[in-house]
Amino acid sequence: ERIPEVEELLAQMTVEEKVGQMAQLTVDVLTVGEDAFSTTEPLRLDEEMTRKALVEYGVGSVLNTAGNRARTLEEWHTIISQLQDVAMNESRLGIPVLYGVDAIHGTTYTAGATFFPQQIGQAASWNRELVRRGGEVTAYETRASGIPWNFSPVLDMGRDPRFPRMWETFGEDVYLASQLGIEIVKGYEGDDNDVSDPTRVAACLKHYLGYGTPLSGKDRTPALIPEIELRERHLPAFEAAIEAGAHTIMVNSGLINGVPVHASYQMLTELLKDELGFTGLVVTDWNDINNLHNRDRVAKDAKEAVKMAINAGIDMSMIPYSLDFCDYLVELVNDGEVPMARIDDAVRRILNTKHKLGLFETPVTHYEDYPLFGSEAFTDDAHKMAQESMTLLKNEDQVLPLPKDARILVTGPNANSMRALNGGWSYTWQGNNIDDFTADYSTILDAITAKVGANRVVFREGVRYDNAASYWVDEAYDIAGAVRAAASVDYIVLALGENTYTEKPGDLHDLTLSENQLALAQALARTRKPMILVLNQGRPRIIRSIEPLMKGVINAYLPGNYGGLAVADVLFGDVNPSGKLPFTYPLYANSLVTYDHKPSEHQARMSGVYDYESDFAIQYAFGHGLSYTTFEYSNLSLSNTELGKDGKIDVSVTVTNTGELEGKEVVQLYTSDMYASITPDVRRLRAFDKINLKPGEEKTLTFSLTPADISFINEGNSRVTESGEFEVHVAELSAKFNYTE
Ligand code: IFM
Repeated sequence: ERIPEVEELLAQMTVEEKVGQMAQLTVDVLTVGEDAFSTTEPLRLDEEMTRKALVEYGVGSVLNTAGNRARTLEEWHTIISQLQDVAMNESRLGIPVLYGVDAIHGTTYTAGATFFPQQIGQAASWNRELVRRGGEVTAYETRASGIPWNFSPVLDMGRDPRFPRMWETFGEDVYLASQLGIEIVKGYEGDDNDVSDPTRVAACLKHYLGYGTPLSGKDRTPALIPEIELRERHLPAFEAAIEAGAHTIMVNSGLINGVPVHASYQMLTELLKDELGFTGLVVTDWNDINNLHNRDRVAKDAKEAVKMAINAGIDMSMIPYSLDFCDYLVELVNDGEVPMARIDDAVRRILNTKHKLGLFETPVTHYEDYPLFGSEAFTDDAHKMAQESMTLLKNEDQVLPLPKDARILVTGPNANSMRALNGGWSYTWQGNNIDDFTADYSTILDAITAKVGANRVVFREGVRYDNAASYWVDEAYDIAGAVRAAASVDYIVLALGENTYTEKPGDLHDLTLSENQLALAQALARTRKPMILVLNQGRPRIIRSIEPLMKGVINAYLPGNYGGLAVADVLFGDVNPSGKLPFTYPLYANSLVTYDHKPSEHQARMSGVYDYESDFAIQYAFGHGLSYTTFEYSNLSLSNTELGKDGKIDVSVTVTNTGELEGKEVVQLYTSDMYASITPDVRRLRAFDKINLKPGEEKTLTFSLTPADISFINEGNSRVTESGEFEVHVAELSAKFNYTE
């Protein structure tokens, strides 16, 4: 894409200036006087280092939060203004810096900002409108902080709960992730992707491609993904978001089929830039060019690593600490090892992004122009999304909602923790001090207490996280106390799950919930008090041994700052739950199968003398989620039973609220391909809509199916629609149609 002002600038640039634009440093390198985790000292620029980076080297981009803590709007304004001042007034060509941060569920590095549920919870809402709204609010607050570039959304697939970043994804389904990916991108960038609007940010799709399914489940370990699978499951969400106009993309740190994606010309240039026609900016992940040498050993030294990555199609290097990248790349260009055309292409993409963001005219926004920052309206949006993400998995004997005059024991390590409610990034390295926040927001305990009154609530943690040591490990310290306290109550609300983690620290040896937490549940069960399990976790930890002990189970995911309130809203019936699982909840740690599996994953096998058990052993199904009302599905009908090459079939279904409460239902449409040239998945989600129904009300929904909707990647790695018979399923109803070419 050629923008005249950018072309003019490019024509004046030296090799050094071009290469500088391709470098991204962490702000920690440019600042001084800050202890990590300090909460008192204001951020100050290291003037000498800043000049060296931005003037001498012409570094084009800065990322991160310095000193690992949330800043006030004013501090952000000062730091961004100072950086832009140096870049624009002291460097020869006056090019503004492009500042990027991970605002992954809100502008979590700025004090007072609005925190939404993490992406996995957003997916559980199945609510396109709310996901878009979350993107809009985050974009507004990010820009209010002076930052125009957001390293979000994650469009890796959450198909393996062992993967420690599953909670950063929209779950296991290709269609759901693609649909919500489009919404969040439009939320960040606006319908027309005009990011010069100072309430919008440039989105960054990550981590291209196939990051979510390493073979061992552990972060940044090798993945084996054949092209057919890459195209069928991993590419579509990126494709859809690129189609939706997303401006930037970040690369997967791992290896696929032995090849580091950062060194893959095939993935970065042939597939992404040529085939998908991506014209935006491609940035590395943290230190990943160096990793081609240090870790992955495809480059014999750091300089060769730079050559490989840039020639493969990387436009910007998240360095993040040293300027060697620039020195090596200048030498490589001068020696003819990296063609100038490649450099020009990269720099053009970077400058185009800056131009589109309006940074040349408005390098710094002013927070005073953002009166809605942290407003009640924004808070309401986040609270609503948290409510709609709550997924009621079990409600035996209609134990829920609980009466507000009941006496309740609130227990478990997740019962009184804002940190755990938010999950990774926010309350740790982006704004670490939980004490800053605990007073302002409600934990699950606070919210329950507010609903029923302090005199009806007893709190005993039983098991706690040791935030000072390794905060994702828990310790049993008062199980007996919790059990004793249960004697005097009517119900137990047991909040279990996980504490903050992401990336390597979140790697697990065992997907099962921790032994301490299981022991707490088992000890409490002996009291025979009705127990409600609230799961506050980023991925489905195995609960097989304790689930039968529970009368009710709510999956709360990582619902953010209003998650405590949302849990209590659902527990006491102030909100009728409407979340649906965006993943298959496994029964066993060694039976991790997604809903869209092949038939052979579902074979009955003998597990005992008379028992037959399927390999598809699940605790709860993808798309499952109960309500306090009941919905009945009827009149599934197809407009025609033959689908031609250019045709469509309208599928209609009527949903009636047959219960006594108003409620929301996610209507899900699946198709099954009966026979195909490669073994078809047992079923695939093709359409969904979330509707609200009053008691007795009914709505008829119509979804259109086209040949593209029932296509798949064939043995030759091409997308095809094959003629044959298909089934349509909506809830328990099904119908058949034929596709004829
Ligand atoms: O955006 C992140 C990425 O998801 C993980 N590594 C660091 C990047 C920048 O913070």
